[in-house]
Amino acid sequence: MTIPSKKEIRDRIFKISSIVAMCILTITSTPAQKKESSVPFKKISPDLFGLFFEDINYAADGGLYAELVQNRSFEYSPSSKREWTPLTSWQYITPGYSYGSIRVETTSPVHPNNPHYVVLEVEHVGSEEKHTGPSGVGIKNTGFDGITIREGNTYHFSLFARQLTAEPIALSVSLQTPKGKILTEGSVRTSSRDWKKYTASLIASASHDTVSLVVMATTQGTLALDMISLFPERTFKNRPNGLRPDLAQALADMKPAFIRFPGGCLVHGDGLGNRYRWKNTIGPIEQRVEQRNLWGYQQTLGLGYYEYFQFCEDIGAKPLPVLPAAVSCQNSGGTWRIGGTGQRALPLEDMTEYIQEVLDLIEWANGAVTTVWGAKRAAAGHPSPFHLQYIGIGNEDKITPEFEERFQLIFDAVKAKHPEITVIGTSGPFPDGDDFTKGWKYADQHRVPVIDEHYYKEPDWMLKNLHRYDTYDRGKSKVYLGEYASWGNKMKNAISEAAYMIGLERNGDVVSMASYAPLFAKKEHTQWTTDMIFFDNTRICLTPNYHVQKMFSLNRGEVYFDQVITLHPGDSTLAASCVQNSQTGEVILKLVNAGSTSSVMKVNLAPFKKMNPIAEQVVLAAPADAENTLDKPDEITPVHTSFKVSHSFDYTTPPMSLTVIRIKTK
Ligand code: AHR
Repeated sequence: MTIPSKKEIRDRIFKISSIVAMCILTITSTPAQKKESSVPFKKISPDLFGLFFEDINYAADGGLYAELVQNRSFEYSPSSKREWTPLTSWQYITPGYSYGSIRVETTSPVHPNNPHYVVLEVEHVGSEEKHTGPSGVGIKNTGFDGITIREGNTYHFSLFARQLTAEPIALSVSLQTPKGKILTEGSVRTSSRDWKKYTASLIASASHDTVSLVVMATTQGTLALDMISLFPERTFKNRPNGLRPDLAQALADMKPAFIRFPGGCLVHGDGLGNRYRWKNTIGPIEQRVEQRNLWGYQQTLGLGYYEYFQFCEDIGAKPLPVLPAAVSCQNSGGTWRIGGTGQRALPLEDMTEYIQEVLDLIEWANGAVTTVWGAKRAAAGHPSPFHLQYIGIGNEDKITPEFEERFQLIFDAVKAKHPEITVIGTSGPFPDGDDFTKGWKYADQHRVPVIDEHYYKEPDWMLKNLHRYDTYDRGKSKVYLGEYASWGNKMKNAISEAAYMIGLERNGDVVSMASYAPLFAKKEHTQWTTDMIFFDNTRICLTPNYHVQKMFSLNRGEVYFDQVITLHPGDSTLAASCVQNSQTGEVILKLVNAGSTSSVMKVNLAPFKKMNPIAEQVVLAAPADAENTLDKPDEITPVHTSFKVSHSFDYTTPPMSLTVIRIKTK
């Protein structure tokens, strides 16, 4: 006889108690209640609440990706953006009356994927007495709006160098305030006429928010430099090439079921050549293929597929990569609102190669180390599989015959080779209209298992559409609500989203996943005005929308119970749900009041026999126009208390509030 594990015992107890509760509910339902809902309970998706990450608003480089040097590989180019040059963010310096020269070259680079590098020629090193700090010929990087350092913290500097003259060349590396005060200094000495990586550790003697990195040759000679990098030692989980800890922790704290990446429109790209190609984003960072992103700034791709998958694993979220459907964004060459030159489709003769790229991703994520791509994952430091379960194909694409033909080829190939993978299709950027209708029609005809819906709307629309999914056909594709938000980050926006999310939970049998978008926005670089988390180099602001998402995500359940909470009839500003968590057996109530006055909700917990009367209560409440800002990030935060429950009680919800009540069952 096999002894069941603790988890199996818990699952069995949960199943039995759910069945008992369901029987009681059925028996105690009045005929009227039965008529309203013939299904008093239903299983809902365990993956319902997750995250959407896109490199928009400087979310990756200059944001979540902890690299402190901007344009570390001299790959900024005017063909990507008119005002860019390979020396953008860099300044040529010759302190102490030194003289020499700087130029950008491309012959024999560190790697062909990373063609540009600088050459410094040091003709004369001046005298140190004439200024503070060492003399020489060098370059200075101002980072992303300055480099922020903290006293006592260690920063890992690295660069690739190649001596072009016979003698070794000494390099001073320092972090300097705008007035030239050196807060930490190190040195390296070249020892090769081939490209070689050099490193130094710098410990900050003081905190400062806007230092520059200065790299200076202090002896005569000529040398080539590339991949000049500075990373804080403290990254999320101390991973090398890692993530900014406060931003990553804010996501970890939400315990999301999944993370969708790398976008958004960034996936299908600004023209076919700008598509996001996952293979360009793995391997040593000096070998990744940088490119401008659709949002108009550079992606180093230092935060690439390996880092995304690793982060998902680190926080227990399922990875959900979205790959282009071999067509470009229909707004290429324009903007999201105005539109551009239109969708471009990959020539059919290139599809075999592209389909292989999609299949290779699955092998890279899940394949044994003996497979070609599984071996690359192992070589990068992850021999065990990443357990990829979902992939998205396409993002908000215009549903044209060209799109459908290419989607079908990819979909068929994935189904044939990897029936274990769930493919998510797309239905355009709006909740209705031409692409929406065509996207759904295609999904029905071709039995696409899940379809991605996107919409950004006013709070009123959210409240008027609380029942959108009640009538969705359960026999058709499941829904992944991949991008949604009400336009704004005030309390009224967040609470309208909370009310809407009750509708997602109630329909968690057909809505299998949902993610608010976009996730991050850097101050002064915000391209999309409504975002979940705002930040600058030192601060982070969690919006009320973040708190709502977190309260739903931390309080997920796998069974939804109808008829537990009775609302004031006909009031569309009220919404409530009751779910049970299969891991803990806890019963979780969520009560939303998006109105301007308090409202009493009647709670009937009779079906749940053995409850602990002292429940946990979390309330998020604030005036409709209140918001959090970087200067005042804690105006709106959830308040945790306990609350006494009984089998039947009235609960008064405050105006503009979300309440979660979590009840332990015995
Ligand atoms: O979330 C911002 C953008 O909105 C996404 O890139 C795109 O998919 C949508 O239009």
